[in-house]
Amino acid sequence: MADSVQLRINGRMIAVPGGTVLAAAIAAAGVTQFRRSVSGQPRTPVCGMGVCMECRVTINGQAQRRSCQTLCEPGMEVQTDE
Ligand code: FES
Repeated sequence: MADSVQLRINGRMIAVPGGTVLAAAIAAAGVTQFRRSVSGQPRTPVCGMGVCMECRVTINGQAQRRSCQTLCEPGMEVQTDE
């Protein structure tokens, strides 16, 4: 496992320790809104264990991925609804 992983969140490059869960990396990057509900309400992770689906983001162009169930990978491109 790499000591440090670099990825891009909303166009901003960040580095996190290897093994970091993506939801934690997004929060550490200062992002407070992971997605929007169908009525436009801001959403953030609730359960942290893959159940609530509130942490969904776009990863490498693939929408609706649960960031709490995804480890950060080098070069990952992440987009939230913020
Ligand atoms: S925080 Fe609930 S599914 Fe990710």
